[in-house]
Amino acid sequence: MRVIQVTEHGGPEVLALNEAPTPHPGAGHIVVDVAAAGLNYIDTYQRSGSYPIDTPFVLGMEGAGTVREVGGGVHSISVGDRVAWKEGLGSYAESVAIEAAQAVPVPEGVTDELAAAVILQGITAHYLATSTYPVQEGEWVVVHAAAGGVGQLLTQIVKLRGGHVLATTSTTEKAALASAAGADQVVTYGEMLDAATELTGGIGVAAVYDGVGASTFDDGLAALRIRGTMALFGAASGPVPPLDPQRLNRAGGLYLTRPSIAHYTRDRAELISRTDEIFGWISDGSLAVQVGRRYPLAEAAQAHRDLEGRKTTAKVLLIP
Ligand SMILES: NC(=O)c1ccc[n+]([C@@H]2O[C@H](COP(=O)([O-])OP(=O)(O)OC[C@H]3O[C@@H](n4cnc5c(N)ncnc54)[C@H](OP(=O)(O)O)[C@@H]3O)[C@@H](O)[C@H]2O)c1
Repeated sequence: MRVIQVTEHGGPEVLALNEAPTPHPGAGHIVVDVAAAGLNYIDTYQRSGSYPIDTPFVLGMEGAGTVREVGGGVHSISVGDRVAWKEGLGSYAESVAIEAAQAVPVPEGVTDELAAAVILQGITAHYLATSTYPVQEGEWVVVHAAAGGVGQLLTQIVKLRGGHVLATTSTTEKAALASAAGADQVVTYGEMLDAATELTGGIGVAAVYDGVGASTFDDGLAALRIRGTMALFGAASGPVPPLDPQRLNRAGGLYLTRPSIAHYTRDRAELISRTDEIFGWISDGSLAVQVGRRYPLAEAAQAHRDLEGRKTTAKVLLIP
C-alpha cells in the first residue's frame, strides 16, 4: 500500500510517498481501509519535530473508512463497519491499524469524508466550548482563526450555546467564511483588542479560544474580563513563551489553561458522548462541516505547505 512517511524531521519536503506492507491487526486493534484522512495542524508539529516522534513513521492522526480486518478480542466492531478515529498515527495511508477503543461508529447519513473532516477538529471545538470554558448565553468570547478547521466549528458551537463570537481572520475572504459560520463580528488580529473592549462596554470577554499562540496571546489576555479564561489550545504562529503567574493576577485573576484533546476524551464514554452530540448536530442540520480542499495522498507535502502558508480554510482532507 502507499503511505506518506517521515524518515527525518523537517519541512514539507520530507513527506515522501512510499510503499509499505498492508498492516494486520494485533489484539484489540482493527485495520481500516482509509476513505479520507484529515489534515491537522498537529501533523505539521510532528513532521517538523516540535512534537518529537521517532523516525521513520507514517504521519496522520485522523481519518474515516471501512474496517477490513479485526484483531483478537474485538467484539464490538465487524469487517465492513464504517468508523472514524482521531488517534491513529499512520493515517496518511491506504490502510491503517488503530486501537478498536479509538474507533467511533459513523452513523448513516454522515459520509466518510464528513466523518474524517469533523472527528478531531469537531471534538476539539466541542470540548473547548462545552467543557474548557462552557459558554453561557449572551456572553462574548473570542475565536481566533475563525475561518480555519477548528475555528469554523467552534464559532458554530458557541452560537448553538447562545454566546456571541468576536472572530479574527487575516483576510476579507476568510472574514466572509467566519461570518457565514455565525460570527457576530469579524476583525483582523490587530483590531481584536479594541473591538473586545467596545463590544463589552469595557468589561472584557468571558473567554479567548486561542489556537494561534505566540502572535495573539498577549492581546488575548488583555481582552479578558475579570476572572476570564484563556484557553490556549495551539501554536499556529509559534509557541507562547514562559509566563510569570503574576501577569494573571494583575490582569484580573485570570484562568489560563493549555488543554489537549486527550484530556477531554479520557475514556470511551466521554469520546462517544462528544461524537454522538456532534453527529446529531450534523444530522439535524445545526452544525455545517465544510471541506475546504481535498488533495490526493501523493500531494501531502503541498497540503502541508498550504496549511502552514495560511492558504487553507475549513477542513483539508487527503484522499488515498
Ligand atoms: N489542543 C487541541 O486539542 C487541539 C486540537 C486540534 C487543533 N489544535 C490547534 O488548533 C489550531 C488550529 O488547527 P486547525 O487544524 O484547525 O488549523 P487551521 O485553523 O485550519 O489553520 C491555521 C490557521 O491559523 C491562522 N494563523 C494565524 N497566524 C498564523 C501563522 N503565523 N502561521 C500559520 N497560520 C496562522 C491562519 O488563519 P488566518 O490566515 O485567518 O490567520 C491559519 O489558516 C492549531 O494551533 C492546532 O494545533 C489543538
